[in-house]
Amino acid sequence: MLSRENNERLTRVGPGTPMGKLMRCYWIPAAFASAVPEPDCPPVRVKLLGENLVLFRDSSNRLGLIDERCPHRLASMFFGRNEENGLRCVYHGIKFDVTGACTDAPCLPPSSPEVVDAVKKGLRVKSYRCMEKAGVVWTYMGEGEPPAFPDLEWTMVPENHRFASRHIQECNWLQALEGGFDAPHLTFLHASGNPNSMRSIVPSFYEVAASDFGFVVATGRDFGKETIAWNLNIMLMPFHKIISTSPFGAHMWVPMDDDNTMLYSVDFQPGRPLNDAELAKAKSGEWIHSENLPGSDIGVRNKSNDYLIDRELQKSGKSYTGLKGFGTQDCAIQESMGPIVDRIDEHLLAGDAAIIKLRQLLLNALRDHEAGKPVPGGDPASYRVRSTRCELPRDANMSELITQLVIVEQKQAAE
Ligand code: FES
Ligand SMILES: [Fe+2]
Repeated sequence: MLSRENNERLTRVGPGTPMGKLMRCYWIPAAFASAVPEPDCPPVRVKLLGENLVLFRDSSNRLGLIDERCPHRLASMFFGRNEENGLRCVYHGIKFDVTGACTDAPCLPPSSPEVVDAVKKGLRVKSYRCMEKAGVVWTYMGEGEPPAFPDLEWTMVPENHRFASRHIQECNWLQALEGGFDAPHLTFLHASGNPNSMRSIVPSFYEVAASDFGFVVATGRDFGKETIAWNLNIMLMPFHKIISTSPFGAHMWVPMDDDNTMLYSVDFQPGRPLNDAELAKAKSGEWIHSENLPGSDIGVRNKSNDYLIDRELQKSGKSYTGLKGFGTQDCAIQESMGPIVDRIDEHLLAGDAAIIKLRQLLLNALRDHEAGKPVPGGDPASYRVRSTRCELPRDANMSELITQLVIVEQKQAAE
C-alpha cells in the first residue's frame, strides 16, 4: 500500500504538482513528426502533463507548441490558419509565431505603432521549445534552459532500424509504467496456455537499485541450477523502458493528464535495419498499437467494448485471458484498476517487491528535486545503456548484477 498523500505525489502531473514539476525537467515526446509533415500543414492537438496544446510547423519548418487557448478570448488555436510563419486564430485574426509572440493583430482599431506594439506584447501565448529527433517531436516544458537530449539508443539508430507506434492507455501513467516492471504478470496475464503448468517460471528474486539514469529492476528465476537467471530491466527517467528482446523494445509512458497516458512503443535493431519479419511482427495485430481506431490513438479493442474479450478462446486454454495481444491485455487490466488506482487499498505480496521499491525510489527522486538536488538522468550519456539477461552465481549481489548491463558504445549508436 501507499499513503494517499504519496499516491497523489507520484501520480498527479499537472502544473505545480510535485511529479509535474519533476517531469518538466526532461524532454518529453509530444507527437510523431509525421503528424505535422510539412511547413504550414494543419495544426494538431497535443495533450501533455494536463495541458491542452497545439503543435504546428511554420513556413520556415520551425516547430511550435503553444497553449490551445488564444490569449485574446480563449478560442481554440486548433482551428487556426497556419500561414506565413505563424498560426492565426480564426476568431479575430490574431497571429502568433512559434515562440508564442503575437506578430499581427488585425482586429485592433487604427492607433499609433506604440499602442499596437504594447497590445501585441500583452498577447503572448504560452509556448514550449520543440526539437525533432528519431521521427518524434520532443518538447521541454520546464523553466530555463532545457537539458541536453538524452542518448537513448533507439533515437540514435538510422530510421530503417526502428519502427514506432503509439496508443492511449486510459489510466494514470504510473499504473501503466508499473505494469511494465511487473514481472510476475508475464506468467499469467500474457500466457497463451495454462499458466498452472508454468508456476516454475514465476520469479523468485526481486531487486531494484537507483542509478545515474533512473532505476535498474532485476528479476531472478531459479531453475534449480547453480546459477540464477536474471532479467535486468532499466527504467530511464522519467518514463522510459528498454526491453531486452530481439529486436530490442523501448516504451515511453507519457502522461497526457492524470487519467490518460500515451504509450509509445519502439522496436529497434542497433546494428542493422529491421528485417521483413520483424517489421511485419511490429505492425501486426499481435500488438494493440498497430490496430488503433482510424484517426485516433485508441485501440480497436478498448474499454468501451470490453477489449473484445473472447470467452470461448479463454475456455479453450489457448489464451489465459481471451484477450488478443499483449497490449490489449495490459490495457484491459491496468485500466480496470480505475483511472488512478487508490494504492491504500492494495494487499501487496512478495512478488510486488520491485514495484514497492520503484515507488520508493520515485518518491526519493521527488524529495531530492524539491531539495534542489540534481535529477537522475542529468548526464545524457547515462542513457547509453541497454536492458539485458544473464545467468549469475546464486550469491551474486545487486552491484554485481548492475555490471552486467550493456553500455551502448557511442560509435555503435551513431551508425
Ligand atoms: S479569440 Fe483569438 S483572436 Fe480573438
Ligand atoms: Fe504486460
